[in-house]
Amino acid sequence: MNDSQKLIVNGCRRLEGELCVHGAKNSALPLLSAAVLAHGESVLHNCPALTDTDAACRILSHIGCKCRRSGDTVTVDASNVFGAEIPDSLMREMRSSIVFLGAMLGRTGHCRLSFPGGCDLGTRPIDLHLSALKQMGAAISEQHGFLECNAGKGLHGAKLVLSFPSVGATENILLASATAKGTTELHNAAREPEIADLADYLNKCGARIHGAGESVIVIEGVERLAPCEHSVIPDRIVAGTYLCAALITHGEVILTHCFPEHMNGFSQLFEAMGARIYTYGGGKMYVSGKKVNIAPPTIRTMPYPGFPTDIQAPFMALCTTAQGTSVFVETIFENRFRHVPELVRLGASVKTEGRVCVVQGVPRLTGAKVRAAELRGGAALVVAALAAEGTSEISGLQYIDRGYENIEGALRSIGADIKRV
Ligand code: EPZ
Repeated sequence: MNDSQKLIVNGCRRLEGELCVHGAKNSALPLLSAAVLAHGESVLHNCPALTDTDAACRILSHIGCKCRRSGDTVTVDASNVFGAEIPDSLMREMRSSIVFLGAMLGRTGHCRLSFPGGCDLGTRPIDLHLSALKQMGAAISEQHGFLECNAGKGLHGAKLVLSFPSVGATENILLASATAKGTTELHNAAREPEIADLADYLNKCGARIHGAGESVIVIEGVERLAPCEHSVIPDRIVAGTYLCAALITHGEVILTHCFPEHMNGFSQLFEAMGARIYTYGGGKMYVSGKKVNIAPPTIRTMPYPGFPTDIQAPFMALCTTAQGTSVFVETIFENRFRHVPELVRLGASVKTEGRVCVVQGVPRLTGAKVRAAELRGGAALVVAALAAEGTSEISGLQYIDRGYENIEGALRSIGADIKRV
């Protein structure tokens, strides 16, 4: 637990250079759960080394899988999945542990787990997950915070309609229906790139999933899945965060190993602020922030392909020094402005009212002691500190390390004065 560690940032250094984007946390986590469905050894390349992926590997080991990491390759041998219970301590570590439910029911027909933990962004219920699995034949009872889930006779296909395109619920349905009897038709599915990546992996293992990335997904259940080798997609949120860092310092950066097409939901807004962006083949994206200083139009977070809620905080940090007023409307989570009081400590002018936040651009930020309270809010404090005059001290790194691999090393490689102490 690295609660005692801090990042020390001396701001006002223009970032310049080339930066490689690591694999996506929000794809690696469901992929690690999906490995449970494959009878044998799956190999995941470009799997980021994060505290969350470590937690997923601990769950896999707990239920009988053998996991080993070599660099950014993780091998999961799920030949013998014997466990059916995921201990409360492991469930509380991260929200994404809930997608082990669909995988376990698909593989063993039985699972006992508690409600998931993870960043506190609001209530974050799992009603959509549970109602879908019940419609597929799972018997689910809740006792003392634990969910007892049984599909003794195996799951069956169903026509499912999500009232909200939940990412986690869509992933759980894909995992549960891949080996269910019959066909599942999922309407109003989440369309995030991480969903398509999960479907790609499962189809390589022998599943029959059609339409992932669209609102309607059809899954023809198959008897059994075999292991495969797969490479995790790049992390569009990490890429977006590094772009905010480069632009707030008016820098010039080339991102490599990224998928610019996954960032359309926010890259145009960088251009509206005055950034110059070029994308060229081979997963490369050039950005220049020389002229970035115009506040963008109103930002409303939306499910993909809209403006991602996960980039809201780092993007807000960027807007704190833009000329004019920016308005943010957070439509996905009810409590995702916890970084605001910390940005104000750095000299920003930001006011919140419920799910609306108004940012009045200021000429400069100044260094201060600030604390991360969750993952993306923590990243926003790093972005702001890079532009702040003087020294900033950022604590709460256990949140930032959940989603950014060696953030200080990455930023130092393009000229930031940042170190972990
Ligand atoms: C995924 O969370 C991501 N996490 C989140 O990223 C991301 O913010 C979110 O999708 C939205 O894009 C991972 O992939 C591990 P949802 P998830 O189910 O699956 C409500 C980060 O910073 N809802 O799409 O939990 C829910 O309360 C993290 O990397 C229900 O009401 O998101 C929320 O308001 C943070 N009932 C909204 O839907 C349900 O059963 C979106 O949730 C499920 C969800």
